[in-house]
Amino acid sequence: MASVPSLASSVNQRVADALASALPEAGGADPLLRRSDRADFQANGILALAKKAKANPRELATTVVEGIPTGDLIKEIEVSGPGFLNITVADGAIISTLAARAADDRLGVPLNASAGTTVIDYAQPNVAKEMHVGHLRSAVIGAAMVEILEFTGEKVIRRHHIGDWGTQFGMLIQYLLEHPHELDHRSGDGDEQASGEEAMSNLNRLYKASRALFDSDEEFKTRARARVVDLQAGEPETLALWQRFVDESKIYFYSVFHKLDMDIRDPDVVGESGYNDMLVETCKLLEESGVAVRSNGALCVFFEDVKGPDGNPTPLIVQKSDGGFGYAATDLSAIRDRVGNLGATELIYVVDARQSLHFKMVFETARRAGWLNDDVKAVQLAFGTVLGKDGKPFKTREGETVRLVDLLDEAIDRASAVVREKAQDLTEAEIAERGAQVGIGAVKYADLSTSAARDYKFDLDQMVSLNGDTSVYLQYAYARIQSILRKAGDAKPAAHPEVALAPTERALGLHLDGFGELIAEAAAEHAPHKLAAYLYQLASLYTSFYSECPVLKADTAEQVENRLFLCELTARTLSKGMSLLGIRTPEKL
Ligand code: ARG
Repeated sequence: MASVPSLASSVNQRVADALASALPEAGGADPLLRRSDRADFQANGILALAKKAKANPRELATTVVEGIPTGDLIKEIEVSGPGFLNITVADGAIISTLAARAADDRLGVPLNASAGTTVIDYAQPNVAKEMHVGHLRSAVIGAAMVEILEFTGEKVIRRHHIGDWGTQFGMLIQYLLEHPHELDHRSGDGDEQASGEEAMSNLNRLYKASRALFDSDEEFKTRARARVVDLQAGEPETLALWQRFVDESKIYFYSVFHKLDMDIRDPDVVGESGYNDMLVETCKLLEESGVAVRSNGALCVFFEDVKGPDGNPTPLIVQKSDGGFGYAATDLSAIRDRVGNLGATELIYVVDARQSLHFKMVFETARRAGWLNDDVKAVQLAFGTVLGKDGKPFKTREGETVRLVDLLDEAIDRASAVVREKAQDLTEAEIAERGAQVGIGAVKYADLSTSAARDYKFDLDQMVSLNGDTSVYLQYAYARIQSILRKAGDAKPAAHPEVALAPTERALGLHLDGFGELIAEAAAEHAPHKLAAYLYQLASLYTSFYSECPVLKADTAEQVENRLFLCELTARTLSKGMSLLGIRTPEKL
């Protein structure tokens, strides 16, 4: 395991050194190296530094250039415009750096030297309720962040803050008590998908029936309310029934997560109820410190800048006037647990943007209470709404929320059709397997390829298209490379720094070299969409390379090997990047 300095960082270092000797007072300053269209890189920092030192920028740039030897690393360097540097690196430097990356399991990607512990809150559906596209976004974006952060060396603790507590359970439990077989399964276990579906349909039926009774039958309502009190008091029979709702819901959740090809582990499912024991103390601490005050019997936290439409402040309600605890009390207790017990240095919440005010108030309250301090970052990775093709929030024709499972099944069907059409030597079983990998990949990629904060349209036709910014395009690029590597026979990939490179080879090589920096950026900015964009560009650059440069029919044996080497490193980088996004790269498509 060795991290490999990128060409950009090596060149940047050379320029910085030359700059420091040309202008000692600029020692340590960043020459601001960027990829450029005119040469490989452009250094833009000299202009400002010269101005600051009251020196002539072009003269300073010229002295810097004189101080940089050309050779193995830098092939050409020249001053351009008022004081920029245009820099071209040597072909051999590109290939040698890539060879060092290829020799490393981590593709030369460095570990973050200041890694800490991140607790990430994602994939948090609600008990006894159907999952919808909002839960898809949280799960997909969260899972990608987990992988990206872990790849940089961060310790990541996952928390699935499922909605498993609240007054609605009084009605559900009471109904189950009076109709004890409502949650029983008719089919035996075995098929996970079928049991998941059955669990959810039982829960749905029970939910509707108990709601109807609650709304129409005063006596049932009274019994349901009494049941809430029993639940909160931890009465054993009531708790056992509550647990059944949680268990049945988990059967359903896991079947969906499995379909999503996502690894959700039971110990990480710590729902709202997991913080029940802390709620009283959380409120006590807030009240004693004066962070929260009683207002009309409720325990509230007020904010200067949070006001309702009437101009009166809208408080965060930690405890209702009837003594009940809400969503905020639970989230504040979760912060105490995650920072105090789990040792988090960063908290990430992958939650719908419509909950932003809640998190703003919760974070601010936790800061006032001292549960969050300067050593702990708390961020909501807020995501936008999933829209239908008509640009409105995604609903069925009847105006109901679309069931996530139906969407996933449809994506898999469409993808299987695409795979079948292109299939040459695939068996039926392979088509089914690839159909799922392509369909689920398409759904995840569509979600991950726009920045999380933006809304996006759920358009299956576009998602499984072979052309354009889709996961299928990337999966085909990967499979095509594998097929070339299989066809190469005895010719094996090998780096040859002495072989001259064509322009498309250089462009591909320089992009490959930027993988480590891209990962660091995506991790620090919580921006999986930057990884998606990087991979799409990688596949596009590969396509240009492949159409311009014959691989197996290249001029010399060295050139064949060198091109195979570029193919193989491209495939490994694609596959690594895709796996961080939770997307499979089948060997054959
Ligand atoms: N269960 C909630 C929902 O479906 C999301 C929970 C978000 N996490 C949290 N710590 N509040 O909207």
